[in-house]
Amino acid sequence: MNDSRISLRRTTADDMMLYFAWANDPEVRANSFTQDIITLEAHERWFASKLADENTVMYVFECDGVPAGQIRFALANGAAEIGFSIAKEFRGKGLGTEILRRSCEMLWNERGTNLIIRGAVKTANTASSRAFERAGFTTMDDSTNDVFFYAKRY
Ligand SMILES: CC(C)(COP(=O)(O)OP(=O)(O)OC[C@H]1O[C@@H](n2cnc3c(N)ncnc32)[C@H](O)[C@@H]1OP(=O)(O)O)[C@@H](O)C(=O)NCCC(=O)NCCS
Repeated sequence: MNDSRISLRRTTADDMMLYFAWANDPEVRANSFTQDIITLEAHERWFASKLADENTVMYVFECDGVPAGQIRFALANGAAEIGFSIAKEFRGKGLGTEILRRSCEMLWNERGTNLIIRGAVKTANTASSRAFERAGFTTMDDSTNDVFFYAKRY
């Protein structure tokens, strides 16, 4: 996809319902480490707490101004742990790889290049693993049969 059609912006309070729809997408739930369906009430509380948390950084990824995916970094002890998803209708176009690449650069710009960026992926989730690999992440030694751990440094 043409670079100029893609942009990344900070998540705002107005994105609450967008995130709610994305969070309950069946593939997103299946590939998450907590699989229960999320109620609107629980989501509202969770979303407000993440927006207010200075150790959470969230970006929305847009294609031609249409929201196409989201990525969240949880910062702790010099590392940033990734959670991300691409909206169903935008999957399989290379955007997963692109959001990983671009958001890492943006995070390092905003929070410093010493941060190690990490992701945990269920081994069955081939699309996510491929996206991490193509975005320049390497597999860590503590990976198991069930979960691949990825990391990237500046
Ligand atoms: C994982 C996810 C973000 C990947 O985004 P995407 O935009 O579809 O991925 P890309 O188009 O960048 O594809 C990445 C690679 O996976 C491959 N791929 C895409 N869909 C695939 C599928 N269903 N099965 C196997 N491989 C797939 C692509 O061919 C590509 O590999 P290649 O570069 O060798 O051709 C997206 O599928 C998604 O939102 N899934 C649900 C939520 C999720 O799993 N989040 C990640 C949790 S760790």
